[in-house]
Amino acid sequence: SGNAVNVTVTGAAGQIGYALLFRIASGHLLGPDTPVRLRLLEIPPALKAAEGTAMELDDCAFPLLSGIDITDDAKKAFDGTNVALLVGARPRTKGMERGDLLEANGGIFKPQGEAINAGAADDVRVLVVGNPANTNALIAQRNAPDVPAERFTAMTRLDHNRAISQVATRLRVPVTEIKKLTIWGNHSATQYPDLFHAEVGGRNAAEAVNDDAWLRDTFIPTVAKRGAAIIEARGASSAASAASAALNHIHDWVNGTPEGDWTSMAIPSDGSYGVPEGLISSFPVVCKDGRYEIVQGLEFDDFSRERIDASVTELGEERDAVQQLGLI
Ligand code: NAI
Repeated sequence: SGNAVNVTVTGAAGQIGYALLFRIASGHLLGPDTPVRLRLLEIPPALKAAEGTAMELDDCAFPLLSGIDITDDAKKAFDGTNVALLVGARPRTKGMERGDLLEANGGIFKPQGEAINAGAADDVRVLVVGNPANTNALIAQRNAPDVPAERFTAMTRLDHNRAISQVATRLRVPVTEIKKLTIWGNHSATQYPDLFHAEVGGRNAAEAVNDDAWLRDTFIPTVAKRGAAIIEARGASSAASAASAALNHIHDWVNGTPEGDWTSMAIPSDGSYGVPEGLISSFPVVCKDGRYEIVQGLEFDDFSRERIDASVTELGEERDAVQQLGLI
């Protein structure tokens, strides 16, 4: 259909792809009134598996799914795309240093940024899920100079949702009671989940918890290391929860955050909160009319400031490394 929104998913044959595509096609990305056309990008050895997934998508007879294209050509995958979900990435394997990881991912995200620059729709929105997500997003963005920089984002929504779940469980309240939670910084072990500005039933969440040791020694590390705990338990990394978070991220960006709440997105810094301009760092954001804005005016004690600074320092180091590799 001519009215369908083009949604590109890279790494479509992977585990997140499998958890993501069926929910996109059933309306959980853009809402129940928006038809979608899927573009699946994979590497040649995984094309057949992507075709198998497409067969299953056909077999669901989703009313909103107006078509599926499968390709190993980034130019084709991003031509006219409105929403680009960059999931496929090169995982860290044994013996790989951070520099090797960044270089391998540069080989993926540089050409994808160039392809987005060449052919994406004017309203394109990009979400990078594939790790290291913030820096992969930076690489894609810097290789797409004609696309407004703010259209490139990275996912910290899974961390955000994990943090909400942890604090709701601790306080024995429904997750819907927790508002204004923030993940600051990098989607990595240095991320800072901030309870000091969060609310539970209208009350300050850190005060409601009233247990600094739990906050420091349990809550923060549990959220930051949840990915490893899932691997340990499931024998595979987070997939359905990551897919769910990706849907939440785009849904809120397009349709807005609820009144009286905000969410966490890794976005190009405008210098707010001392985060160097241009770094793709996670902030509290309010979304409205299809745009996001950083929540301003929050104040920190030394504990929070040090943690945010540590994560932002790591992002700066990753940026310097990819700059030295000539990727940006
Ligand atoms: P997976 O290994 O199951 O799937 C990745 C897929 O990407 C594979 O099918 C592979 O063929 C494909 N791929 C590789 N290079 C590609 C390229 N150049 N173009 C298109 N496709 C390509 O991995 P999974 O579990 O789906 O995870 C994907 C990524 O998401 C990983 O980098 C993982 O670390 C990351 N992740 C990020 C999270 C976040 O919160 N930001 C949470 C969970 C995972």
